[in-house]
Amino acid sequence: MSKSTDSVKRKKVTTRTFRQKKTRGEPITMLTAYDYATALAVDRAEIDSILVGDSLGMVVLGYENTLPVTMDDMLHHCKAVARGAKYALLIGDMPFMSYQVSVEEAVRNAGRFIQEAGMDAIKLEGGCERVPAIEAIVSAGIPVQGHLGLTPQSVHKFGGYRAQGKSAQAAKRLLDDALLLQEAGCFSIVFETIPTRLGRLISERVEIPTIGIGAGAGCDGQVLVSHDLLGLFDRFTPRFVKKYADFHSEMAKAFGAYKNDVENERFPAEEHSIEMTDEEWDALTALLDD
Ligand code: KIV
Repeated sequence: MSKSTDSVKRKKVTTRTFRQKKTRGEPITMLTAYDYATALAVDRAEIDSILVGDSLGMVVLGYENTLPVTMDDMLHHCKAVARGAKYALLIGDMPFMSYQVSVEEAVRNAGRFIQEAGMDAIKLEGGCERVPAIEAIVSAGIPVQGHLGLTPQSVHKFGGYRAQGKSAQAAKRLLDDALLLQEAGCFSIVFETIPTRLGRLISERVEIPTIGIGAGAGCDGQVLVSHDLLGLFDRFTPRFVKKYADFHSEMAKAFGAYKNDVENERFPAEEHSIEMTDEEWDALTALLDD
């Protein structure tokens, strides 16, 4: 099939596509992206959805955790991603303190992701305590993806990045929260770092698609931070990540080779250089000789 026929047939992924995939038992694919070039590549790979995650704070901006990320940071990167991706469902991650203070602020900030930054949906972290904000955002016409389990914005409450839902009580609370989020109108829920069998059980008990990250193979879809998958972020790699490349080493190798070439006058070579015609050169020399 030619490339143009292919792209005529390819449709924009919507929240409806997510639901249809769950019904058909087809795994949903999702990756993070924070810039135009990555969004283009993810979209070209026909990944269903791009999350502009607040993991941006750690893997791109170099913060210790996601807490310092602001609405301005998020909108700036969402706009770049929206310019690169035409087909994937685009989800903007609401940063810490953009939806916790009041329902009104939550709706206003969610609206900015759609109106200013070209996102199709938003994601926010938390369980039953987030229901009023989710209901209000959904009733404003904005699709909401929930996020349960290890919610990184609560890292201080958890006392570190620890797996969640490992006791029967905690697991039951997660299931209850998932049902509440579904009832509040979420179109999907991300589950982060929870036991595999719990991920499977919740996915079977909720109607909306579940997307796992460190939540095992029983979820309806999977998401990874693209910098982890590419081996671009070398500070640490969570156990649940499968590294498909080692771009950090490749980058260091390429930068070293460039330095070597410049220092040894191998770059730029003729093929990287621009020349003027002999005629113009002679004219210049004549001008200078005057
Ligand atoms: O910010 C992010 O990238 C996320 C994913 C880990 C789900 O929330």
